[in-house]
Amino acid sequence: MSHKRELKPRIYAVGAIDWDRRLFDELIPLPDGTSYNSYLVRGSEKTALIDTVDPTMADVLIRNLEELETGDIDYVIANHAEQDHSGTLPLILELYPGAKVVCTPKCKDLLMDSLLIHQDKFITVEDGMTLSLGNKTLEFVHAPWVHWPETMLTYLREDRMLFTCDFLGSHLATSDLFVTDEATVYEAAKRYYAEIMMPFRPTIKKNLARLNDLTIDIIAPSHGPAYKEPNFILNAYRDWASDDVKNEVVIPYISMHGSTKKMVDHFAEALIERGITVKLFNLSEPDIGKLAMALVDAATVVIGSPTVLVGPHPKVVYAACLANALRPKLKFASIIGSYGWGSRMVEQLTGMIPNLKVELLEPVVVKGVPGEEAFKALDRLADGIANKHKEQGIING
Ligand code: FEO
Repeated sequence: MSHKRELKPRIYAVGAIDWDRRLFDELIPLPDGTSYNSYLVRGSEKTALIDTVDPTMADVLIRNLEELETGDIDYVIANHAEQDHSGTLPLILELYPGAKVVCTPKCKDLLMDSLLIHQDKFITVEDGMTLSLGNKTLEFVHAPWVHWPETMLTYLREDRMLFTCDFLGSHLATSDLFVTDEATVYEAAKRYYAEIMMPFRPTIKKNLARLNDLTIDIIAPSHGPAYKEPNFILNAYRDWASDDVKNEVVIPYISMHGSTKKMVDHFAEALIERGITVKLFNLSEPDIGKLAMALVDAATVVIGSPTVLVGPHPKVVYAACLANALRPKLKFASIIGSYGWGSRMVEQLTGMIPNLKVELLEPVVVKGVPGEEAFKALDRLADGIANKHKEQGIING
């Protein structure tokens, strides 16, 4: 099945919808599939292809181009070197031997290394440079770290369209060329932000600010549907990337024999009684995407773990490493759990999250089954969190 659609006169979506993919980088769950969007822009004199597709779906891109009777492709704009957008470049260059790859100097290095494209095939562009297609002009906006250091955005001046590749995108397989169901896209875009963009939050803010200089009618990312109302996604990003946190406690936990579970249940109840929103994640079968999404806004994380061979449970280690890598804007953290004969869980876990710039609140780690003293300590921790949230101005009372 091919997917050939026109966004504006002489601007076509020629990419592929991947309905079946369920995992990205062998790490990130894709419950709703994804798409690899590629756009063909036909100017009066030259034709440009913006991004390609994952090599597993090269046939769809090639068929779409054939059906459009594209003729020559003069330029392939590579906004980003990751293979889900660049992986079909070698085949495109073979089929369209006159085409040049247009990208940032850093992107050229990466593409030469990862796809073995010859250096003669490249035109490198600096920030703000333009490329004329005749009656259409492409302007390149260097935007490092939306996802990798080499990323850029491409602005089509006459049509006021911004091609953003990963930035502002969503892992969502849909036949909609443009957003129709905002709630669904919001969820998918937030998941995408949490998993891909959140580690670069300070840079994301700078890149968002730069977009204020552009008049944008359409944002066309390379994953998920395009936006006819750019403020829908720009405002969502401004919120997620801001320094504001919400009155929420995320509790990723696991329990082996039920003691940690008893503590987590009591603690969650204590937080709810104090007017705090709680998001619980049992790590035995986690959707790490949902956990990442919860970390986008929360003020506090409290990790619940039993002790395994004096350290935290390995599934908790995995979640802690992931949270550390994603660098959410959390303000406070703590640890609760139970051990049998001895534990170095608190020292080990805190050592695993150096990227989280949090204040550590007194952990509650008890020997064996939790009793009255443990529950009182959990209540004190809940009080402490409520006070911290009040100081932040995110909880009433
Ligand atoms: Fe969609 Fe960073 O690649």
